[in-house]
Amino acid sequence: MTSSAGLYVHLPYCRSRCGYCAFVVSTDDSSRGEYLDALAREAALVEPEASGFRFDSLYLGGGTPSLVPPGELALLVEELRGRFDFEEDSEATLEANPEDVTVELRDAWIRAGINRISVGVQSLEDPELVAVGRRHDAAGALRSLDRLAAVGLSLSADLILGLPGQTAESFRGNVQRICAAGVDHVSIYLLEAEKSRVIEDDRRTHPDRYLSDDAQADAWLEAGETLASLGFVHYEISNWAQPGREARHNVKYWTRAPTLGLGVSAHELWSERRRANVSGLPAYLSALGGGRRPLALDRTIGEDEAIRERIVLGLRLSRGVPAADVESWIEEAGDALLLGDYAAWRAEGLLAETDSRVRFTERGFLLSNEILCRFV
Ligand SMILES: C[S@@+](CC[C@H](N)C(=O)[O-])C[C@H]1O[C@@H](n2cnc3c(N)ncnc32)[C@H](O)[C@@H]1O
Ligand code: SF4
Repeated sequence: MTSSAGLYVHLPYCRSRCGYCAFVVSTDDSSRGEYLDALAREAALVEPEASGFRFDSLYLGGGTPSLVPPGELALLVEELRGRFDFEEDSEATLEANPEDVTVELRDAWIRAGINRISVGVQSLEDPELVAVGRRHDAAGALRSLDRLAAVGLSLSADLILGLPGQTAESFRGNVQRICAAGVDHVSIYLLEAEKSRVIEDDRRTHPDRYLSDDAQADAWLEAGETLASLGFVHYEISNWAQPGREARHNVKYWTRAPTLGLGVSAHELWSERRRANVSGLPAYLSALGGGRRPLALDRTIGEDEAIRERIVLGLRLSRGVPAADVESWIEEAGDALLLGDYAAWRAEGLLAETDSRVRFTERGFLLSNEILCRFV
């Protein structure tokens, strides 16, 4: 049985760029109309490939999708629903910045068919928000969550661990207050300082403003315990959800389900081909103006690589992967060092096996980057 497909759409416009962010964004939205036309053209170009597939998730990510005027957003969703065969009960997520969430916009998103909102809260401490150039304050973030929770939307919040000025205590407070705000899904990302020159330089000059790696690890494990005590399931390295509220679209990436990606810098896995669009807005617009899909990458994935991807991506999920798959991969690779390390990871309690599936333990998740890159 083939699993249902997912559709990602990148909406790149932001009011300003946050200190830590390396996503493909533009702070000049004068091309927005042209961009939305280009997206519609790209959808038309892709439509024949999607024929025969049913879709059960739509993800509008960014950038700041909540900045797109609601009428234009509704037209975009209508266009996509017309081109792709969406299930009646599809998950439809919109990424929103807290400062955009008014009651009027919320109601317009619901009318457009959005049923899940992912809010970029990042922190509930004003000095931490100011330090990375966020446009909202803690009170505004809580107000936005209140407005969304009030109408029963599926609601997720992003937090970042490791922000400048953050302490173990302030992070503990962030987690507790987010949970009290009625979210049913929480993503906690470790600050990737290397994605931003400004943050990287700041961390080098003022290491005292940042939690050490050990302190971050302790805070992350404690957050997991708090979330578990409130009924959240840690289903993926960075993601916790109330049962049944896992992000259906994102799970497709970790299970290698078919996904299409539209928009500048969007990635996809379709018919065992990994494809990605160009990451420059002008190049994206001009290719579609000429009636071409602006692909910068189009690579067929061979059988071996697919097996490896299934292991590396599947281990990100707490349900893990069949132990036999990992063992036969290591055996075929003939890598004695990896074989020894695999035994050591298990002996040290970083990997565990239950019901013939191998998975990371909570401590193992903390070292997952180092471990997963050994499977390359
Ligand atoms: C596409 S981004 C931003 C969505 C939305 N525009 C916002 O700002 O809330 C999705 C999430 O990635 C996370 N993120 C972005 N850059 C990061 C970095 N350098 N390190 C860790 N997390 C990051 C943030 O938590 C953010 O909410
Ligand atoms: S974090 Fe969000 S709002 Fe800030 S620059 Fe990145 S995408 Fe834009």
